[in-house]
Amino acid sequence: MTHNNQALYEVRNISKRYGSVVALEDVSLQIRAGEVIGLVGDNGAGKSTLVKALSGAHQPSSGEILLEGKSVVWKSPHDALEAGIETLYQDSGLAPDLSVSANVFLGREKTIGGILGKFGFLSQKDMDTQAHKDLEAVGIAVPASNRSVSQLSGGQRQAVAIGRAVSWASKVIILDEPTNHLGARQAGEVLQIIKRAKERGLGVIFISHTLPHVLQATDRIVVLRLGKIVADAPTSTFDAEKLLGTITGLIEAH
Ligand SMILES: Nc1ncnc2c1ncn2[C@@H]1O[C@H](COP(=O)(O)OP(=O)(O)OP(=O)(O)O)[C@@H](O)[C@H]1O
Ligand SMILES: [Mg+2]
Repeated sequence: MTHNNQALYEVRNISKRYGSVVALEDVSLQIRAGEVIGLVGDNGAGKSTLVKALSGAHQPSSGEILLEGKSVVWKSPHDALEAGIETLYQDSGLAPDLSVSANVFLGREKTIGGILGKFGFLSQKDMDTQAHKDLEAVGIAVPASNRSVSQLSGGQRQAVAIGRAVSWASKVIILDEPTNHLGARQAGEVLQIIKRAKERGLGVIFISHTLPHVLQATDRIVVLRLGKIVADAPTSTFDAEKLLGTITGLIEAH
């Protein structure tokens, strides 16, 4: 059980070097259940590098990762997925030639092993129905889940990718620039999805360069600059000007 004051997910003093480039330096961050964290910073600040450490896509050069207070080492993204941590990577694509439902289930064979064991196999129709239900449950309306993803608009594809991640997450959901390339209405829908994920008790990390979205949708904001955390404070303590100043370094947080 996660207690209110115990971090659901945490990184302690992690650093990541790519050769001589220090992408992350001594970063510590705690995520609580039902909390939405906005992770912001200029291009190259280290946001996606931090996401990759949290999602098991790479291992930090040093430091520790803890899930519900226990130290964990992710050898691959699959380890993190199995532990309930879902990630929508920046520019992550769906498989365009597959249907919506096939994309929702893609790579989940192991996770749905229990269901497969019970029924022998999931028919195409079962998958379409289940995918539709899963997407609907997180607030995503897709025309028909048996349609090929290549027939969807960019915004609809993005919605499927987000819905896929949110519906499978049981603990933490990490969204790296999920409102990129979306119209105002669709971006608003993504913010609603984030709100519902929070209400389900998930810990959410939301990365975006669109500061009004971050100010609107988060409980706490963490600012990265040149691989270091320069601010970590409740969203209510920021306004647009202060946030921009902290990101660019024109306002020193401490
Ligand atoms: N595979 C890699 N090899 C070498 N350097 C890398 C690699 N990936 C990232 N970097 C470097 O690490 C730093 C942080 O990059 P990262 O992608 O985490 O930034 P970001 O905050 O996500 O930026 P953006 O807002 O542009 O997505 C940058 O200096 C980048 O050039
Ligand atoms: Mg990035």
